[in-house]
Amino acid sequence: MDKILVTRKIPDKFVQQLQQLGEVQMWNEEFEPMPREQFLKEIEESTACFITLSEKIDEECLKHAEHLKIIANLAVGYDNIDVDSATKHDIDVTNTPNVLTETTAELGFTLMLTVARRIIEAEHYVQEGNWKSWGPYLLSGKDVHGSTVGIYGMGEIGKSFARRLQGFNTEILYHNRSRHEDAEQQLNAQYVSFDDLLERSDFVVCTAPLTSETADKFNATAFSKMKNDAIFINIGRGAIVDEEALIEALEHHQIGGCGLDVLREEPIRFDHPLLKMNNAVILPHIGSASVVTRDRMIQLCVDNIKAILQGEQPLTQVHN
Ligand code: GLV
Repeated sequence: MDKILVTRKIPDKFVQQLQQLGEVQMWNEEFEPMPREQFLKEIEESTACFITLSEKIDEECLKHAEHLKIIANLAVGYDNIDVDSATKHDIDVTNTPNVLTETTAELGFTLMLTVARRIIEAEHYVQEGNWKSWGPYLLSGKDVHGSTVGIYGMGEIGKSFARRLQGFNTEILYHNRSRHEDAEQQLNAQYVSFDDLLERSDFVVCTAPLTSETADKFNATAFSKMKNDAIFINIGRGAIVDEEALIEALEHHQIGGCGLDVLREEPIRFDHPLLKMNNAVILPHIGSASVVTRDRMIQLCVDNIKAILQGEQPLTQVHN
């Protein structure tokens, strides 16, 4: 009987579907990852593996996974997986594109408006009893409407973000490793160099995946090119940003603020300097976290596992 390893607690309705396909071994915690040692042991016996971003899939775990046919990643980004190594071992890797696009763009948009209009500061101001009277510039922020927004990474999430900007009368710039004529024609997005994007944008929004090309892309040089009141939003991956350089840029008013849903180290340390900055809004990697979207993502992982175990093509296979 096929053994299916699930590294995080998922709802019964999905477990029941997996049980039709094989024996399910599930780590019963929702908010804590399976210890690496246990994972390495369990994966040796597994035919299919349903994982989250917390699991690092490398040669160390694949070399003993003799029965493994599929790794279904509960995310669109798959920088936690050594896909070359999986391919070498004849293991299919799948992810969850499309189903999370709109939800993730929506979170990015929320983050942009939140930082622009200083919503977290304003809420704390009220909660802490500081609201004594109205003031002409009390907690005044920055307009998104009429601004220039630069999108770094014009994949599905980047395009979805640009679609949301259509009602805001913004100039949309983008930078991507290849041009997207559809975005240029339908969304009025203008392709520019990375430097142009940094220099001209009031909001710089990163939706890119983590690759060797994007790693550390937002570093001291990049922040020094941005406008002094620019707001930087990251819904891609934490390692695209040099966080020390970002902190410096915020402290020295090289940029105006940031909103990050992804961090280099997740979860972020409670004493991390970014958490002490008024002009930084930090979220716990919740880009795709709506109930409906998470259900769809889990279902897609289940469907991919089902396809592979029944000898069919997976629905959303990852290729390097
Ligand atoms: C989340 O970050 C994802 O890649 O889906």
